[in-house]
Amino acid sequence: MLILRKSHRKVTSVRHSRTMNTTKTAAAHPLVSSAPAFFPLAGRRGLVLGIANEHSIAWGCARILQARGASLVLSCLNDKARPYSQILADSIGAPLMCCDVEQPGDLAAVVAGAVQKLGGLDFVVHCIAWAPKEDLIGRVTDSSANGFNRAMQVSCHSFAELAKLAEPHMATGGTLITMSYIGADGAVPSYGLMGPVKAALESLVRYMALELGPRQLRVHAVSPGPVPTRAASGLPDFYALMARSAHSAPLGRVVTIDEIGGCVAFLVGPDASGMTGQTIYVDGGLHAVR
Ligand SMILES: NC(=O)c1ccc[n+]([C@@H]2O[C@H](COP(=O)([O-])OP(=O)(O)OC[C@H]3O[C@@H](n4cnc5c(N)ncnc54)[C@H](O)[C@@H]3O)[C@@H](O)[C@H]2O)c1
Repeated sequence: MLILRKSHRKVTSVRHSRTMNTTKTAAAHPLVSSAPAFFPLAGRRGLVLGIANEHSIAWGCARILQARGASLVLSCLNDKARPYSQILADSIGAPLMCCDVEQPGDLAAVVAGAVQKLGGLDFVVHCIAWAPKEDLIGRVTDSSANGFNRAMQVSCHSFAELAKLAEPHMATGGTLITMSYIGADGAVPSYGLMGPVKAALESLVRYMALELGPRQLRVHAVSPGPVPTRAASGLPDFYALMARSAHSAPLGRVVTIDEIGGCVAFLVGPDASGMTGQTIYVDGGLHAVR
């Protein structure tokens, strides 16, 4: 795969390149500070799941959605994660709830809580993924059935469960978004077990789009390029992968969580009303080159 071929030539200092790219993107794309003076999401109510800390893709989505006028409820995993997420939720005035999708009833409780606080739902943003460490770092070929199943439940099937719970509260239609990665589409070294899980997730998106379309519920996967988050740092050789991706991408850099949030804000907004069932890349164009 191209992202990994070109890279051998150019991976010199991963740390240096990461710093440079982050600085460059932050300066060039101040989506928050230059938020438009209109609020295309005013009156829209959404649940954003999966905030771990200020580096989380869920946080990039939440702050852009809020800046565009949406009212939000956010979730983090548990009380251990809460202190890191609470400060962020407070900064945008959004209630924060805990939700571990492996705990029976948690997802139902967070959807019910969001509906109670917001009066209904217009969109949900699912930014949750997990696999047991021992299965994540090894070959997919060697993965345990239990590890594979848990990764599928947390990272893929929970999106279907979320849709089932949210659907009755999206009376006039709405949007359901999840996060994928290009490793769904081709085998990316080090992505391992999460590759087949994301492939299943992208297929799930298409089936959900088919089934929910008649109710005007639109479903998408957003597929970001590598971003340095806590989940990503659990992948073997993640920073080398990120540096190679930055060098190979047509834009020549990694993307920011604000750019991912900007795409999500577009998808849940009125201008994307004719779209459903897609995987949309926010990866500096990496997916388009070989
Ligand atoms: N970071 C990247 O490079 C990258 C690239 C493409 C796609 N993604 C995807 O973006 C999404 C968000 O990940 P991130 O990179 O922001 O990392 P992150 O670590 O900030 O977020 C992952 C979230 O998943 C949550 N989670 C894990 N197990 C859970 C469970 N049982 N119940 C509820 N929540 C649980 C974690 O608590 C965390 O909040 C994931 O789906 C990930 O696969 C990330």
